[in-house]
Amino acid sequence: IRCQSTSTNEPKAKRNLLDNASNLLTNFLSGGNLGSMPVAEGAVSDLFGRPLFSLYDWFIEHGSVYKLAFGPKAFVVVSDPIVARHILRENAFSFDKGVLADILEPIMGKGLIPADLDTWKQRRRVIAPGFHALYLEAMVKVFSDCSERTTVKFEKLLDGEHSRGGDAVELDLEAEFSSLALDIIGLGVFNYDFGSVTKESPVIKAVYGTLFEAEHRSTFYIPYWKIPLARWVVPRQRKFHYDLKIINDCLDGLIKNAKDSREEADVEKLQQRYYSNIKDASLLRFLVDMRGADVDDRQLRDDLMTMLIAGHETTAAVLTWAVFLLAQNPSKMKKAQEEVDSVLGQGRPTLELIKKLEFIRLIAVEALRLYPQPPLLIRRALEEVVLPGGYKGDKDGYTIPAGTDIFISVYNLHRSPYFWDKPHEFVPERFLEQKESGGIEGWAGFDPSRSPGALYPNEIISDFAFLPFGGGPRKCIGDQFALMESTVALAVLLQSLMWN
Ligand code: HEM
Repeated sequence: IRCQSTSTNEPKAKRNLLDNASNLLTNFLSGGNLGSMPVAEGAVSDLFGRPLFSLYDWFIEHGSVYKLAFGPKAFVVVSDPIVARHILRENAFSFDKGVLADILEPIMGKGLIPADLDTWKQRRRVIAPGFHALYLEAMVKVFSDCSERTTVKFEKLLDGEHSRGGDAVELDLEAEFSSLALDIIGLGVFNYDFGSVTKESPVIKAVYGTLFEAEHRSTFYIPYWKIPLARWVVPRQRKFHYDLKIINDCLDGLIKNAKDSREEADVEKLQQRYYSNIKDASLLRFLVDMRGADVDDRQLRDDLMTMLIAGHETTAAVLTWAVFLLAQNPSKMKKAQEEVDSVLGQGRPTLELIKKLEFIRLIAVEALRLYPQPPLLIRRALEEVVLPGGYKGDKDGYTIPAGTDIFISVYNLHRSPYFWDKPHEFVPERFLEQKESGGIEGWAGFDPSRSPGALYPNEIISDFAFLPFGGGPRKCIGDQFALMESTVALAVLLQSLMWN
């Protein structure tokens, strides 16, 4: 497979990333007296055309906490690990998800991402044990089976092209990885095989339709869908509700089946069951069978829908970017291929082998550093909050009033010249070189011993300088799932196909 990677061929993921950021910026401005905070008064046109880059330029110019003002409206952009840690971990419950929750609630209901605090506390406690080590181990086989389906598809396309006398096949890798991630999340979360790598179905179309609508809502200035009758009168809203119904009917059927075959057990027993029963190792099975966790079907459906949406395009983006970056860096591609050859040979990935695939793991992590998806974390202050001083700019910190909208720019943090050498370069090995705090007051630097046994670098090791999955109590619940999935998929693709 020959990868083209000129700047004009950048994956759609990048455009989506930029578009989404631009839309968030324009949509979610809120007022607030932010005192002496530096103000970025860039041209609005800059922000529309190159939103992430403008936020980055202003970060370098104004410091790690600044206000972006449009007339009476303002929001705070944070690119500082100490302030991010304060918001996400130390004061997590002084903030909610603001406008993000408004957009996602019609799709995810009371799922973990948009849920109110009480529901969130209750459901997080029940769902988190489902992602235990044995579940993840059982998932490795699912990751591997699904990735093989993708490589078989690629091989067939290549063979077909060869027999026609051609030597190159054009593949939309982003679309292919989207299908792969959808199949994996369906099997992992509710033991349903979308089979989207090889076919189309009304449910698959409905999932994409719903994602498309979520994207549209994050880009539209006026929430016209809240107007009574809009869902009946506006064609795209009618379609959205039709799509939702198709998915909900599918999920309701799966929930009913799982409940009909319920085998109640304690959490420990359920976790152990994965040794003997990997026929249905899904999260749904776990949630239904857990003793004392009786829950109404509506909540269960919201939980499943949330994980379906949250765990799909995000992982597809990691794979797309990883291949894009490898294609631009032939020496890294060679190194990756050599590691796969020596660790896997012709064998299948297992948890033990994933532990040995160090370089492949770091490729996934480095792709997430350079192109985090989501690039911004969104919060709204529920009360007045005193932010700590950042390492750059104003050392005294700021008081932000209730209602202030905040964007923690993960993109800026991940490319901050204050924490990363050659921040814009693709260097997966960088995570192996421990970095001291460089004398930055309040930032503890990189230290793997803070997260013993971690397979992948995380926000704890980096003291919030690297947070692709967020941090604190609202941290992504599927981080290990996604990282192992990406590692296996990359390894299987490199194992089966020659990339150059
Ligand atoms: C939350 C990123 C994969 C389920 C989050 C958050 C981030 C994130 C940044 C925190 C959002 C915030 O603080 O506002 C990612 C990335 C992924 C990924 C980059 C893939 C590379 C997954 C997968 C699942 C999942 C595979 C499920 C199987 C969730 C859920 C939450 C969440 C349920 C909400 C957690 C809570 O509020 O308690 N994700 N995610 N994610 N993610 Fe992921």
